[in-house]
Amino acid sequence: MELQDGRTPNHQLVPHRGFSLICGIHDPDDVDQICNLDVTDSDVFVVTYPKSGTIWMQQILLLLEAGGDLNAISQHSSNADLVPWIEINGNRQAFMSAPPPRLRVTHLPYQFLPRALTHKKGKVIYVARNPKDVLVSYFYFHKVANMLETPQSFDDFFEKFLRGEVFGSSWFDHIKTWFSHKEDMNMLFITYEEMIQDLQAAVEKISVFLGKDLCEEQLASVVEHSTFSNMRKIPQASYQKVPEELLSHRVGMFMRRGTIGDWKNHFTVAQNQRFDQVFHREMKDFPISFIWDIKDFQ
Ligand code: A3P
Repeated sequence: MELQDGRTPNHQLVPHRGFSLICGIHDPDDVDQICNLDVTDSDVFVVTYPKSGTIWMQQILLLLEAGGDLNAISQHSSNADLVPWIEINGNRQAFMSAPPPRLRVTHLPYQFLPRALTHKKGKVIYVARNPKDVLVSYFYFHKVANMLETPQSFDDFFEKFLRGEVFGSSWFDHIKTWFSHKEDMNMLFITYEEMIQDLQAAVEKISVFLGKDLCEEQLASVVEHSTFSNMRKIPQASYQKVPEELLSHRVGMFMRRGTIGDWKNHFTVAQNQRFDQVFHREMKDFPISFIWDIKDFQ
């Protein structure tokens, strides 16, 4: 599809080696070179399917790095300045000359990431979230994010998500492929739901995985500044300062509900049945089970 002046619209998805990139945000040639990046042991890649807790993990990593000191990480307009998406135009180049520790996030599937990771160089944190809540979160994000196509309706978006016709492509392929390589790399696999259930335990787990040596007070400060309500008050953590041309702040917030089970307010009974069918077909051999409702904890 082209605009009347011949340009491709920014939100257009560009199929590339079994994955969809976003026109104007990603350069396929550049993305193809990510696999050749040299990785050192202090490098950390947070891998997520979109809407699974990426910005939450950005905040936690930054706070862990700063020993829980919020002021130390507040001098920039968004956490993405310090923990950028490796696949966005220009960021691969910047990675090569960045000082350690190089903390990065990515939505890319396994085949694009640095091969050095499979030689146990660097660390990977994969954050997974139950896909029904991912779908709902992604639906709202498509309305806010101007680099993504505005959905015609929830029903239409539901179908697109199940077909993998969104940035991130198939949720099922993303998680299964990454998980199947878990033992090849230094990977921590963590879920959004376990972070919701016990943030302190999750932060401690991440801290141990990264080899950090924080005292109790520092860890408590990391937890305090990464709760949903507190992060929402921190503009650089909740992306409130991102320019309007990228995010329409009047339409909605990046940090929307921050809970488990909001899909129940959106899926029809028929949609839920259909989703379950696809989920069971795709995930029947997957060894991790998901939490679908906040009430499952109580
Ligand atoms: P909702 O839209 O369901 O609220 P990502 O960063 O991968 O795009 O994911 C965004 C989702 O993570 C949003 O979900 C957002 O609210 C949620 N999120 C971000 N920070 C969070 C936090 N501290 N606690 C709980 N959820 C958080």
